[in-house]
Amino acid sequence: MSQDKAETGRLQELLARVGGGLDQFLKFEHADAISRQQNWRAALLQPLPQQGVGIDEVVRELLEQVIPNGSPVSKPGFTAFITTGGTSASTLASTAASIASPQRYMATAFNLLEELSLDWLAQMFGLGAMQGIYSSGGSVANLVALGAARQSAFEKLGRDPARDGVDRAVGIYASSECHHTIQRAGGVLGIGRRAIRPIVCDEQGRMLPGALRSAIEQDLAAGVVPMAIVANAGTTNTGAIDPLLAIGEIAREFAVWFHIDGAYGLPGVLDERLSHAYRGLELADSIIVDPHKWLGASVGVAATFVHDRSVLERAFTQEAADYLEGTLDHADASAQIEHSMDDFGVPYFNYGTELSAPCRGVGVWALIREIGVSGMRERIVRHNDMARALADYCRQHDNLELLLEPTLSVCCFRYRSAAISDLDQFNQKLVRRLIREDEFIPSTTRVNGQLAIRPCFLGARAESDQVTGLVQAVLRIGVELVAESN
Ligand SMILES: Cc1ncc(COP(=O)(O)O)c(C=O)c1O
Repeated sequence: MSQDKAETGRLQELLARVGGGLDQFLKFEHADAISRQQNWRAALLQPLPQQGVGIDEVVRELLEQVIPNGSPVSKPGFTAFITTGGTSASTLASTAASIASPQRYMATAFNLLEELSLDWLAQMFGLGAMQGIYSSGGSVANLVALGAARQSAFEKLGRDPARDGVDRAVGIYASSECHHTIQRAGGVLGIGRRAIRPIVCDEQGRMLPGALRSAIEQDLAAGVVPMAIVANAGTTNTGAIDPLLAIGEIAREFAVWFHIDGAYGLPGVLDERLSHAYRGLELADSIIVDPHKWLGASVGVAATFVHDRSVLERAFTQEAADYLEGTLDHADASAQIEHSMDDFGVPYFNYGTELSAPCRGVGVWALIREIGVSGMRERIVRHNDMARALADYCRQHDNLELLLEPTLSVCCFRYRSAAISDLDQFNQKLVRRLIREDEFIPSTTRVNGQLAIRPCFLGARAESDQVTGLVQAVLRIGVELVAESN
């Protein structure tokens, strides 16, 4: 019997063992990985094994050396990135897909859920009949959307940029707060990072429509083709939402592709208190959202929506591939799909940059199916409330300063005291000490030139009492640091 065959029939037992290790991990009783790095590095840094150790030893090493020394990202108090640990539903579904459907094509239940979950996302966020495609994250989702924008802009000039390349300068207008993946998309699409014109923002971090209009007019006067306007529905830094309606109307006026980066913030539309801020979504030509951010999917899934996927097909076609035709005889009008290989389903491989790709939709399906729109809304509102509760603490306490009124679930604030001469340096030091305590792990950023402590409440496991804990820790460390400096 081959070594491969020896494992057959043992998944239930093996997954149960790994599941036990993950349940233990999720209690977060372990110290940060770095504190034991000598042990796990020594155990794991092995020479290339010529002979395998077998699955039981692999599971043992996973349980003893790998899982307990994982990342802090899934901790409830981790608020530094806009990413989080996957919920159980999403994790289980992704694991199932890795075995039961290693590809998203063919007439299978997984292929069906790829499309159904995209449709559910569009319905949940009020995107009407927009059609989607999954990719690995916001970076690629923005690239796919801007690929469509490039296609559309050049087709209006009678050219096919995907086939022939670009032959003239174009401009993309994005706020100075936009995610840097927009610039990278410009590089990858052959129009250059410098084609991205940074549009100034107001003090809340929102794009100024007047400045947008001037930038487009300047480019038109210089013979540069306006290719796309990119607005944020939730910036990474502060959660700001650009004035989508005003920007969308400018896009219409100049007939420029209107893209909305909602990688983080699109789910905020579920919070009815904020729905006014999302007016203008209906004007978008493309929108992205990352289920692996606020929706709690395991990392590796973003969705790009456009009105008609045929523009994606023209932008990303890999040209015909005979082996991707399916086995149905299309010449025979009476032919029925009788096997999952007869039909490859929606040709996602022609709508984006990936051919082989995991079934991402099943994870999104699982997490929406588990808690429904109402559960999702409850989570979004809870996290937005957490940012507002923190803002309230700042208003009430003399030693805390709110640097920006929260829009979504990010709150930018800092510690202050008359005894501190350099608040930027002090707060940087405070956060360094805070994260070493390993319970509350926010990031820092700059807001209108000032260093801010920036928690982004996002994880499905983040609960409201965490805000009080974070405030108490910041105040305690602030007092300690002031005392130490005297
Ligand atoms: C607004 C926004 N767009 C795009 C991205 C890139 O997403 P990803 O890290 O999934 O590639 C991020 C990441 O935080 C983001 O916040």
